[in-house]
Amino acid sequence: MTVTPAIEADVLRRQDPELADVLLGESERQATTLQLIAAENFTSPAVLAALGSPLANKYAEGYPGARHHGGCEIVDVAERLAVERAKALFGAEHANVQSHSGSSAVLAAYAALLRPGDTVLALGLPHGGHLTHGSPANFSGRWFYFVGYGVDAETGLLDHDQIRALARAHRPKAIVCGSIAYPRHIDYAFFRDVADEVGAYLIADAAHPIGLVAGKAAPNPVPYADIVCATTHKVLRGPRGGMVLCGSELAERVDRAVFPFTQGGAQMHTIAAKAVAFAEAATEDFVRYAHQVVTNARMLAVALAAEGLAVTTGGTDTHLLTADPAPLGVDGRTARGRLAAAGIVLDCCALPHDDTRGLRLGTAAVTTQGMREPEMARVAMLLAGVLRGDLEPARTREEVRELTAGFPPYPA
Ligand SMILES: Cc1ncc(COP(=O)(O)O)c(C=O)c1O
Repeated sequence: MTVTPAIEADVLRRQDPELADVLLGESERQATTLQLIAAENFTSPAVLAALGSPLANKYAEGYPGARHHGGCEIVDVAERLAVERAKALFGAEHANVQSHSGSSAVLAAYAALLRPGDTVLALGLPHGGHLTHGSPANFSGRWFYFVGYGVDAETGLLDHDQIRALARAHRPKAIVCGSIAYPRHIDYAFFRDVADEVGAYLIADAAHPIGLVAGKAAPNPVPYADIVCATTHKVLRGPRGGMVLCGSELAERVDRAVFPFTQGGAQMHTIAAKAVAFAEAATEDFVRYAHQVVTNARMLAVALAAEGLAVTTGGTDTHLLTADPAPLGVDGRTARGRLAAAGIVLDCCALPHDDTRGLRLGTAAVTTQGMREPEMARVAMLLAGVLRGDLEPARTREEVRELTAGFPPYPA
């Protein structure tokens, strides 16, 4: 199997067979099981090549043209390319591509706009907010006063009346919109309107939908939010990492919030890989891909609902969907374990207004592999069969192996 340049060249196998086995084992797991984790994808060989390049050796504190280390002239070109490509892709006046992760990007946004103790309005964690949206286990919940909004108990949709009422009552310094599990488009114009009414900054945490934005399959938060934070490794199909987009007036504050306030040296191999991914995402191929991701997620939602799972909001506008498997007689946590044994890999998630756990599924990775609607129907059938107990996990594992064999993520 051709996987990474390092394995291909057999360097690692000769030098460190133990670790080479880990890489090959993981490559095989990814290729022979179904990757339905909504936050994952398969990057291109070109992105992997940049990640595994000698740019990994370079220290580069600071920004292009103003580094604390010598010898940065060449890596500066990579960062300038990444910045220019991100700005063009998302129509942003400024892009910082140094954030090591989505969480680091959110931390930088808070650092740029807030002071400890400030009030922030964000989606509550049980309703799909991320840890960085006020979890007591995270810096956000420790350093800021978070007020949580939620989704409607009946429809599962963001409760706009409640959001406006909470904003009026608490006068937050910032409002955060964005989620780890909300399957519908976010109305950024609505959030901008509420933020303006109460004099708050608007931070869009677009970690999940940013790849769909690049592929013109979801609304762009850039024209509405003061700061947009994102990851580069989900639908966007780049390396693991984050980025921050904003207008020119906040550019300096954002850059200082990333370095030196919250991070040290930039990871130039990752930044180069981000540049590669941004160029890939600017193509018509990627636009087709992003739309197919949504088509596949919609098909999966329809098929799972037909199998009896309770699909939140009745479907999806995006790459992800959440569902309660309880009607099939199983809770989310048990379901995840049973499905893993069958080679169907997905996440549990909180279910709003419910104490039990649900399932979260995404179609970014399987779509990169080339799967389409017929495969989504088959996946739903296998998944529901395993949960109902009609299909034996070990036999289903073989079916999954057969299915995935037709869609290698890295064809030889
Ligand atoms: C909405 C949201 N924000 C932030 C993050 C954090 O990203 P990372 O895991 O790269 O820190 C995620 C990750 O899934 C996310 O979904």
